Amino acid sequence: MTEQQTYRVWDWPVRVLHWAFVVLIGLLWWTYDQGDMDQHVLLGQLLLCLVIFRLFWGFWGSASARFSRFIYSPRVIFNYAKRQLSGKGEHYIGHNPLGGLMVPVLLLAMLGQAVLGLFSTDDIFIEGPLYSLINRDLASELTSIHRQGFYWLLGLIGLHVLAIIWHRFKGESLVPAMITGRKRFSADQKIADEARVKSPGGSIVSFYLRFLITLCLAASPWIILNQL
Ligand code: HEM
Repeated sequence: MTEQQTYRVWDWPVRVLHWAFVVLIGLLWWTYDQGDMDQHVLLGQLLLCLVIFRLFWGFWGSASARFSRFIYSPRVIFNYAKRQLSGKGEHYIGHNPLGGLMVPVLLLAMLGQAVLGLFSTDDIFIEGPLYSLINRDLASELTSIHRQGFYWLLGLIGLHVLAIIWHRFKGESLVPAMITGRKRFSADQKIADEARVKSPGGSIVSFYLRFLITLCLAASPWIILNQL
């Protein structure tokens, strides 16, 4: 039997946020489809706060959550893509170079959608909380981008899910790691980022201190928007 090695990868905030994004995008579509726009606006603000949390966590979260650990140079990304297509390609504990590129793209796409929603209106019943700060023409322009933006976001999500399926066919199941936070490799698999995702150290107290600071930063837009 081949020897297996287990690595800790995604911390719990990354995992909870990821599945919260999945549920929230579904609910945002559902509330829009049902015309339940009050809930849609509230869920949009929640999405905004969660994305802001993930962006800050990308600077001081645990090793594999940090942008500095999974944003690679264009050359590395290109070479990785080439090796993948030729059926070779090493394994990664954290995001691989292409997956790492997709993270800021998905986060910024959700951030853009949420921010545009704050200025949007249906011209009848509902206005985003920042609608009154801009003129009507600009608001209808932003609303139209917000509507189309959803389909762009769906396209990116589709690409993201296709990449997960591609890796599954290549014998690498990524989904269990996003649930359990652990990845298993056999001893003969070549791992490219072992040193890169090594824990930056720090105690559990420092982890929860950073978590609390991030939570406060992420909650502030909610507090500001709901006092307007
Ligand atoms: C609304 C839909 C989705 C959004 C917005 C989304 C967004 C993201 C983001 C931002 C990350 C990076 C995680 C991080 O570092 O914080 C990620 C990773 C990941 N997502 Fe999704 N995701 C979605 C749907 C899904 C679905 C349906 C699956 C399962 C099939 C999935 C499986 C994964 C996995 C396995 C990873 C880790 C990839 C890796 O190991 O590099 N995602 N996703």
